[in-house]
Amino acid sequence: MTTAVAPVLQDFEIRPLGAALGAEIIGLDLSQPIAEEDFRRIHRAHLDHHVVVFRDQRITPAQQIDFSRRFGALEIHVLHQFQLAGHPEILIVSNVRENGKPIGLGDAGHFWHSDLSYKEKPSLGSLLHARELPREGGDTLFANMHAAWDALPADLQRKVEGLKAEHTYLAKYKELQRRSPWRPDLTPEQIAQVKPALQPVVRTHPETGRKALFVSEHFTTKIVGLPEGESRALLDELFAHSVKPEFVYRHQWREHDLVFWDNRSLMHLAAGTPDSERRVMYRTTIEGDLPY
Ligand code: SIN
Repeated sequence: MTTAVAPVLQDFEIRPLGAALGAEIIGLDLSQPIAEEDFRRIHRAHLDHHVVVFRDQRITPAQQIDFSRRFGALEIHVLHQFQLAGHPEILIVSNVRENGKPIGLGDAGHFWHSDLSYKEKPSLGSLLHARELPREGGDTLFANMHAAWDALPADLQRKVEGLKAEHTYLAKYKELQRRSPWRPDLTPEQIAQVKPALQPVVRTHPETGRKALFVSEHFTTKIVGLPEGESRALLDELFAHSVKPEFVYRHQWREHDLVFWDNRSLMHLAAGTPDSERRVMYRTTIEGDLPY
């Protein structure tokens, strides 16, 4: 009979990164089993800082999947064309083409968004692992939606609290296809998977109880119950407010970074990569709860 050996505690440091949000974790090796006590520290850091950057992670796709699963079940992205072979839980985010065909979703994150907010149960969080980085560009920006809510003028807070908004995956799909003609047409089965969802404009984080604005330029199309012009003007005002510089952290990637963000607290944006540069990232996306 073999006796299971408990994972050993690792000696790692958690260092805050910027004023708005973010912390880096140094000295942790995610290719090793993670002890329960270490996991609790990581989980706490994620709730406190909203983005945690695990430095220097030389992990395999299977190890990324195993670690991501510690936080919940994983989503399979609707664009199955860009799954990693043998690992459908990994979405390849990349501008690289092989034999004339894109290997990944090259324009993922082109507009500010929270992952899967167009689903009834949007994502808890996502993990993005740097496999190949460009020499320039390729940054990812994160906006703290708790800070955006806290700083919203009181009259606007009163106006939007309790409202619902429609989110849809298709909102900018045609526009993205015009910019990126390689984007596949969606099949009827794929369209059926991404029916619009109604979400609260202000959500409460299910683990911390903090309020956050929950609308994005990518997926939110209208506020329910308002005339079209008023809904558009209010959304534009909320979008502009949410991404003020004081709420934003800009992540400049380092080799082997694994970045884990909280989709319940943040929006994010991919700043873009020059066509002459290669960028290859692997994303896992954790299922979340019904927003309230
Ligand atoms: C994403 O929105 O998931 C991609 C972000 C990035 O590529 O920086």
